[in-house]
Amino acid sequence: MRKKIIAANWKMNMTVAEAGAFLDVFLVELGDANSAEVVIVPPFTALSHVSERLAKTEQAKLGAQNMHWEKNGAFTGEISAQMLRELYVRYVVLGHSERRSLFGETDEVVNRKVRAALEASLRPIVCIGETLEERDSGRVEAVLEKQIAGSLAGLSAAELSHVVLAYEPVWAIGTGRTASPAQAQEAHAFIRKQLSVHWDSSVSEKVRIQYGGSVKPQNAAELLHQHDIDGALVGGASLEPRGFAEIVKAAHRLD
Ligand code: 13P
Repeated sequence: MRKKIIAANWKMNMTVAEAGAFLDVFLVELGDANSAEVVIVPPFTALSHVSERLAKTEQAKLGAQNMHWEKNGAFTGEISAQMLRELYVRYVVLGHSERRSLFGETDEVVNRKVRAALEASLRPIVCIGETLEERDSGRVEAVLEKQIAGSLAGLSAAELSHVVLAYEPVWAIGTGRTASPAQAQEAHAFIRKQLSVHWDSSVSEKVRIQYGGSVKPQNAAELLHQHDIDGALVGGASLEPRGFAEIVKAAHRLD
């Protein structure tokens, strides 16, 4: 049984003060009886504060939004896996479509980061997904296949078992337009099949695949109910502590 994983990708939102205020409400609202794994992914500037707050509880783990593949050096503006580890970061989001489209990240760059993260015992959340144009021209499977092969190239089955994948159709991110549960399930099943083809079915059955793109309290249960959807990577709706707690509880109720 794959444990559901619900992550809050705050993107470039939340000052330290706002992050603190979020946690004041969220951790109370969430309570203790949750079977889903919860990951809070703040901007770098709030990592230290959120880390200290989460150190006192098992309710949620810490994630980062990006990292560089080198351990240190002349890379102005970048952050290494070791720096994240020092703050007790457990997960790192890699290859988000905003990083791919706005900051030029290719599958090759994502792959370097994935390997560096695993080497440092960070668990990568690797994002993949097609644009609207790619969907409309019938290329969803080809795009996913290329992103999987490129981003995860060279990983052993044991390494892959520590990776979380996030299927985020670009047309559903921040648009209010969610993939239907059937559309999402179809893509997730395809992704899992690709993992079994490139690696093997015992690891493909273990890897968790999150859905991301306009997940809200109103649609979370229906999406999370799908056989191959093992969690959610939530953007906008994760900025509101009560709503995000509701999404986590929707995952818990399905177990
Ligand atoms: P929204 O939930 O705002 O659509 O963002 C999804 C996302 O990109 C999470 O990484």
